[in-house]
Amino acid sequence: MSLRENQIMQPEEFRLLREFVAAEFGLLMDEGRVAYLSSRLLPRLRELHLETFMDYYTHLKFSPRGGEELRQFISLVTNNETYFFREDAQLQVLAGHVIPLLKVRKQRDGERKIRIYSAGCSSGEEVYTIAMILLESGHFLWEWDLMVSGIDVDPLMIKRAQEGVYCGRAFQSTPQQLLDKYFSRVGDCYRVKNSLRAITSFQQGNLLTLDPFLGKEPVDVIFCRNVFIYFSDDTTRKVVESFANLLEPDGYLFLGHSESLSRISSLFQPSRHPGAIVYSKRG
Ligand SMILES: C[S@@+](CC[C@H](N)C(=O)[O-])C[C@H]1O[C@@H](n2cnc3c(N)ncnc32)[C@H](O)[C@@H]1O
Repeated sequence: MSLRENQIMQPEEFRLLREFVAAEFGLLMDEGRVAYLSSRLLPRLRELHLETFMDYYTHLKFSPRGGEELRQFISLVTNNETYFFREDAQLQVLAGHVIPLLKVRKQRDGERKIRIYSAGCSSGEEVYTIAMILLESGHFLWEWDLMVSGIDVDPLMIKRAQEGVYCGRAFQSTPQQLLDKYFSRVGDCYRVKNSLRAITSFQQGNLLTLDPFLGKEPVDVIFCRNVFIYFSDDTTRKVVESFANLLEPDGYLFLGHSESLSRISSLFQPSRHPGAIVYSKRG
């Protein structure tokens, strides 16, 4: 038997792969994704000379090279949609409300250090956006230690973020003056300048297992936008609990505009701003 051009996986194959994805990464996939997932995996089956999706599942889960394949597989099942200055209302709250409060708090405590995470950072646009907002706020001069760190489970996205070269649609909401100031032109695209690179970092990591990040420096703000829409409530609850452990007392959490913690967790207190909700960790 050989692979057909548009081979679609059997219900049992889909069930096993779906359960695998949910257990490993927390991502939910409904039945409507069968054709999509089949078409994304078919090229991998061909490259690995496998004949069925069940063979692929067995390879992924049980073969000694399964770990290596997992890195390819994750890139095929994640949605990495992102762009600079996404969801402006929230960024206004960061710039106009959170950053000034953080500055006052930090100065009071004599600690000139700001740590921000972008959890599920995709190809890095969110990280560089936050870094631009910090630098543009005018609150932090050279004596401040600033770091915006991106974490994503998809190694391909982390590589792109580290390369820092972006084109076209990525800049759909970027003010021209910031494009000119923080990027240099390379052909039809733009490369992030060192002023932004210096206060950013990227790391591959799974939000379901954030233990490696615990015990490092506490974090002031976590952005986790447009990630929980793909998680079950139970998974979201677990990740939110690890966020609460990572954050400073009174630390802030930003979710995507269609995501909410009501029914999920009481560890955070929502505060409403024009067009945006921001969560702060309950004391
Ligand atoms: C739609 S993008 C959102 C990017 C950015 N936060 C934004 O709002 O523009 C979702 C990202 O979450 C990442 N992701 C999904 N599950 C994850 C997990 N378990 N651990 C870390 N990242 C995950 C995906 O790889 C993807 O890059």
